[in-house]
Amino acid sequence: MADYILTPWEVSGEVDYDQIIKEFGIEPIDDKLLSYLKEFTNEIHPFLTRKIFFAHRDLNWILDEYQKGNPFYLYTGRGPSGNVHLGHVMPWIFTKWLQDKFNVELWFQLTDDEKFLFNQSLSMEDAYKYSYDNALDIIALGFDPKKTFIFSDIDLAGTLYRNALKIAKKITFSTIKATFGLNNSANIGQIFYTSIQTVPAIIKSIIEGKNVPCIIPHAVDQDPHFRLSRDVLPKLGYYKPASIQCIFLPSLQQGGKMSASVEHTAIFTKDTPDIVKKKVNNAFTGGQASAKIQRELGGNPSICSVYKYHFMLFTLDDDEIKKIQSRCKGGDLLCGECKNNLTQKINKFLTKHQEKREKAKDVIDDYLLKEKINLRSLVNEKNKKFV
Ligand code: TYM
Repeated sequence: MADYILTPWEVSGEVDYDQIIKEFGIEPIDDKLLSYLKEFTNEIHPFLTRKIFFAHRDLNWILDEYQKGNPFYLYTGRGPSGNVHLGHVMPWIFTKWLQDKFNVELWFQLTDDEKFLFNQSLSMEDAYKYSYDNALDIIALGFDPKKTFIFSDIDLAGTLYRNALKIAKKITFSTIKATFGLNNSANIGQIFYTSIQTVPAIIKSIIEGKNVPCIIPHAVDQDPHFRLSRDVLPKLGYYKPASIQCIFLPSLQQGGKMSASVEHTAIFTKDTPDIVKKKVNNAFTGGQASAKIQRELGGNPSICSVYKYHFMLFTLDDDEIKKIQSRCKGGDLLCGECKNNLTQKINKFLTKHQEKREKAKDVIDDYLLKEKINLRSLVNEKNKKFV
């Protein structure tokens, strides 16, 4: 029995990724596939060499089609239930790399509907507000405005609903129960929701009136949705969406992923330098009980969350990370210095990100898609609330 839980709505415990590969039926990304990818990208992102993006579905097919002159588009998303943290940013940095390397469109879904349905204490108005707030973080990462379409589900409800209906008709309640572990106390919106998350996987095919390959970068928690998409879409005459999947940036404390619901263990893009310093200082490390013992015995990077942050996001240079690892193990690098070093790197990233986030407010309309028809405004122009 696994001693972790992994669903799109709950991740806890130490996830066993080898077991996930077997259980989900995803493919590990091997060296052969990396060489094939490199033929197109000329270089390989450290997220790939470090096995942070570790698994996929049909990436070979996506590259084959690209080579034949049938390019793909990217699709990813965010459930706007609060502020964005560094764990969310990780797959988006990689998505931007893919966009830059292949010069392709990105469709970015903000699932305010999902978060409203699954989070008992979140109002629809707040979820919708977070869509716009979180869009600033996405834009700040530098996606190409001409090739990036960001949308809130609420804003694009007509298109999504029309197409989700066709998908929903092909999925039974028992499949939903088996896939997501929902039981009879789930609200009926939750049961329907996955069909909305499937639509962007065919949105370009709908627009162009012909099948367009789609690849979805995401962390493994979202795979159950797209397993269903891959089941249903061929029945409607569409391609199966491909995916490229990452592991989780961990919590700053011991065990589990970085999660917005446990605030002090996550670093948010809006955190100030002082808050970051405090959180990193309180992080779980692989250090010894005292500096003296650590100098003698060395630390243990393999269990250390500070080391994991260096490895997964902030020290992507191979020589530098090797040095951190060997200095730590050799007792030369103590936790204080290592934490300091990480704090500085995070704050450097966040200071820039926060500036770009502010600037994003001026260009948000270049990115956002919105359906024009709003019933309430047709009825009463003065009322600014949505229906
Ligand atoms: P959400 O908002 O939970 O997460 C957004 C993206 O971040 C990934 N993620 C993480 N990656 C690394 N480390 C972590 N600690 C971590 N926590 C979350 C998620 O896998 C996701 O890629 N239902 C989705 C929104 C969505 C979506 C999509 C996501 C709609 N369509 C298509 C990916 C692809 C959600 O609530 O994501």
